Amino acid sequence: MPDTSDVPSDIELIKQRKKDGIEIPLQKDVQARTTTTYLEYVRLVHNALPELDLDEINLSTTFLGHRFSAPLIIDSMTGGTDEATIINGRLGELAEKFGFGMGLGSQRAGLKSEELAATYAIARKNAPNAFLIANIGGAQLAKGLSIDEARKIVKMISANALVVHLNTLQELVQPEGEPKYRGVLAKITELAKSMDVPVIVKEVGAGISREVAVNLEMAGVSAINVAGAGGTSWAGVEKLRAETADNSLKKHLGEMFWDWGIPTAASLIEVRRAVKLPIIASGGLRNGLEVAKCIALGANMAAMAYPFLKAAARSKEDLFEFANTVLAELQSAMFLVGARNIQALASSRYILTGALAQEVSRT
Ligand SMILES: Cc1cc2nc3c(=O)[nH]c(=O)nc-3n(C[C@H](O)[C@H](O)[C@H](O)COP(=O)(O)O)c2cc1C
Repeated sequence: MPDTSDVPSDIELIKQRKKDGIEIPLQKDVQARTTTTYLEYVRLVHNALPELDLDEINLSTTFLGHRFSAPLIIDSMTGGTDEATIINGRLGELAEKFGFGMGLGSQRAGLKSEELAATYAIARKNAPNAFLIANIGGAQLAKGLSIDEARKIVKMISANALVVHLNTLQELVQPEGEPKYRGVLAKITELAKSMDVPVIVKEVGAGISREVAVNLEMAGVSAINVAGAGGTSWAGVEKLRAETADNSLKKHLGEMFWDWGIPTAASLIEVRRAVKLPIIASGGLRNGLEVAKCIALGANMAAMAYPFLKAAARSKEDLFEFANTVLAELQSAMFLVGARNIQALASSRYILTGALAQEVSRT
């Protein structure tokens, strides 16, 4: 779960919070309700004469200097509890075997004890060659998380990159959240200058606007993960936690802002137009056709969180089967548009319709 401003010092409490962060998305429905990703408004153009065989299609690509066997990242999720060790272990195996990237959940808890650090490090143990992304929260940066601590977090999983997650909506709704974001951009700038690995900035389900993207580019970050609306709702997760905590104001705010944010496709298009940085598309992506649409819209990589969690919680076999299905869907979409590789997919024609077409024509 994204890190909120004040993690209780007691390790058992941290574990419980991290446990909620996995169990609520798995056991309750906290997906978007009235918004969508807007990817349904993107149509790839059918090519009846692709002049290629399905098995010629090459899914591999390069991102931040690393070779991936497909443009896929398991988005940042978990760590800090026993369940997380199992999930991160399985996701690590998937990343290694399939050549995907993988993000870890917010790791500040891992600084507290060796025991908690091990719940993250299992991913590197199982994925010695994969592109692993360490994770810290913007709110923690504002609060004073030091460069030295950020380095320790990277070292914990021998990460290839560090992501900073921006989670204002979650901080706002969470019963114990601290919506304090003053000074975060300066901290990101300092981090981007000081770290030995690329610094990526991501949202957690409310999207990145073009203004924010421009600020991040100027801050020197290496890539942006738009993580837009249409998938897992952190207002939804925290609303359910607020209910348990009997906090009626937070519960009300969670209900009101459940679907807040920039739909993923709209965010991706506006960020692509605004900056030259590599982009990861995420937020509500659920299949390989949606991955293909995001690449055509200008994303360099695509990431999913909840679908990988759901499959990993069931079994390693289900997780691998899900990944194979996504790859088959992506490859099928590429065959149907006549794209023999990811570069060709990136320049294939698409049509925008409905609310998405209206929205991006205004911006
Ligand atoms: C169980 C779970 C835990 C998450 N924890 C984190 C986290 O610790 N740090 C972070 O940056 N994002 C976290 N996220 C957000 C995801 O990385 C992603 O941006 C968001 O869920 C949208 O993707 P989805 O709709 O595919 O789930 C989490 C998501 C889920 C489902």
